[in-house]
Amino acid sequence: MCGIIGATANCSDVVPLIIRGLQRLEYRGYDSVGIAVVGNNELAVRKGAGELEVVRRRLSLDEMRGLTGIGHTRWATHGPPNDVNAHPHTDCTGTIAIVHNGVIRNYASLKEELLARGHRIRSDTDTELVAHLIEEGVKEGKDFVSALAQALSRVEGTYAFAIVNSREPDRVYFAKNRSPLLVGVGDKVKAVASDVPALLDITRDIVFLEDGEFGYVTPREVVIYRLTPSGYERLSDEEVRSRVRHVDISPEAASKGGYPHFMIKEIYEQPQAVRDTYEGNVEDPALGRVSSAILSANKVIVVAAGTSYHAGLVFSSLLARRAGILAHTIISSELPYLVDSIDGGDLVIAVSQSGETYDTLEAVRKAKERGAAVVGVTNVLGSALDRESQLRLYTRAGPEIGVAATKTFLSQVMLLELLSIRAGEASGRLRPSEANELLRALREVPQVLANTLEASDPVATALSKGLSGSAYILGRGLGAAIAREGALKVKEIAYVHAEAYPAGESKHGPIALVERGFPVFIVATSDAREVAGNAVEMAARGARVYVVKPADLGLELEGRESITRIDMPPSSGVLELEPFILTPLFQLLSYRVAVSRGYNPDKPRNLAKTVTVE
Ligand code: F6R
Repeated sequence: MCGIIGATANCSDVVPLIIRGLQRLEYRGYDSVGIAVVGNNELAVRKGAGELEVVRRRLSLDEMRGLTGIGHTRWATHGPPNDVNAHPHTDCTGTIAIVHNGVIRNYASLKEELLARGHRIRSDTDTELVAHLIEEGVKEGKDFVSALAQALSRVEGTYAFAIVNSREPDRVYFAKNRSPLLVGVGDKVKAVASDVPALLDITRDIVFLEDGEFGYVTPREVVIYRLTPSGYERLSDEEVRSRVRHVDISPEAASKGGYPHFMIKEIYEQPQAVRDTYEGNVEDPALGRVSSAILSANKVIVVAAGTSYHAGLVFSSLLARRAGILAHTIISSELPYLVDSIDGGDLVIAVSQSGETYDTLEAVRKAKERGAAVVGVTNVLGSALDRESQLRLYTRAGPEIGVAATKTFLSQVMLLELLSIRAGEASGRLRPSEANELLRALREVPQVLANTLEASDPVATALSKGLSGSAYILGRGLGAAIAREGALKVKEIAYVHAEAYPAGESKHGPIALVERGFPVFIVATSDAREVAGNAVEMAARGARVYVVKPADLGLELEGRESITRIDMPPSSGVLELEPFILTPLFQLLSYRVAVSRGYNPDKPRNLAKTVTVE
């Protein structure tokens, strides 16, 4: 993971821009931080373990000055998070500094070689080796572009690099392979960064780099080269200019806007996010194209990780119901072990809010090698998934900075519900009048969701006091998918062990753990009233049972004192509304537990938002 940024300006100090960018990139990792600047032909580096604000104070990062610099926020892969392993890394001469997001696979052999040639390697990182490789090229008399190209030819793995050197104080070099990297084309400042929000204080004119591209920016120009089998070639200025895209994201969208944390801001942005996703897609012909592809495919396979996988499960549940089609929803990192079953007639729908998740991209690449067609469902225009896909659908959640996926989840659900309705119509199983009825119901989701947030927050606050140890979250059908998402939020944000099970499966083993007072949440959806029986079974064993349900869903739970009903707004039996009614309680519960125990919900331990490593 890791976030990188580099900037060069013709007359103003870039350090404030770098610090601001790092604040926006912190969701990508927060083990350690560092900045290198070039001023008066000298390189200055300050770096250390800890979160940005801590390191910023400890090392007085704001006092650094320079017209050109790079910065990094780290999620450790090679080497523990400590001061030495923090980026930027420098070569033996102390004139080259580099920051990196990615993993270099041939790290061990490169290190051995460099040590044998007399390099002094200080850190345990893979990144430092690249500084030494470039140093060798420079010492051989090559210019920096050739030295960088030579170093890249030696490196196997994934990388986004930003590099400065003290001999060229107005240049930030960069290179990209399978880790995200963008160039910001401002008037007086040019920059590179891992994502758009990091560049918003500089510019909204962006070039999305392709794998195999490298080059440099100066305050006046952007120079891009492409690696070729025999070396490299320069892209014409015209081509670079034609690739500049204006992104429509305001800097406010990437700030907390008065909320104490991004997570709670994003939870409360959900009505807007689903509205934008609905409006941006409901009439989009791309939905029709994807529906036709679903209908003509031999098999439909959904690949995704984490929360996006749960959105995939919601989709397969609804696609089966509305279009009579069984979609196989597979965790991305498991696809390689099933890939032999995929062939040319199949359709792979890859769901990823970031569009950069390594596991999902690998799954897509493997499926493509087998001849499958790929639909990318992402929140990030220009992301790697977007570029790898033949058909594309976009959620319109806006930037999500909190590590936990919240508004992007319900936006994915909205988009995939629209798709299942269109596929249902195309299959002939949903009459146009029924499809229109469902679409009308979905139009009401922003209001339903606003009511749900209002109803859920006090309940979440009350429940947060008693939640510790572990809990089960059970559901059937659509409820099983929502339960999984609820359990993931509670684990990753509240650090409470919550396990989700299809409720019917709970009696095949998990129920053995249940004893007096064990908390069991039941997510009751209108496709599966049988969960009432599971609630009663759990209560009979002494569990403290909470049944979370739409208020108008009748369940036979009478006479059970240990069962608490948590009534959310009604769904009128419209299954499509229920993810929006039943998910927010768990988002808010995890948030309220985290805050009440002093955890930072925006930066849960050991996690990073975009997992760009294997
Ligand atoms: C959980 C969470 C992660 C992501 C997962 C996939 O709150 O955020 O589980 O859902 O890493 O990320 P994307 O959707 O970017 O592929």
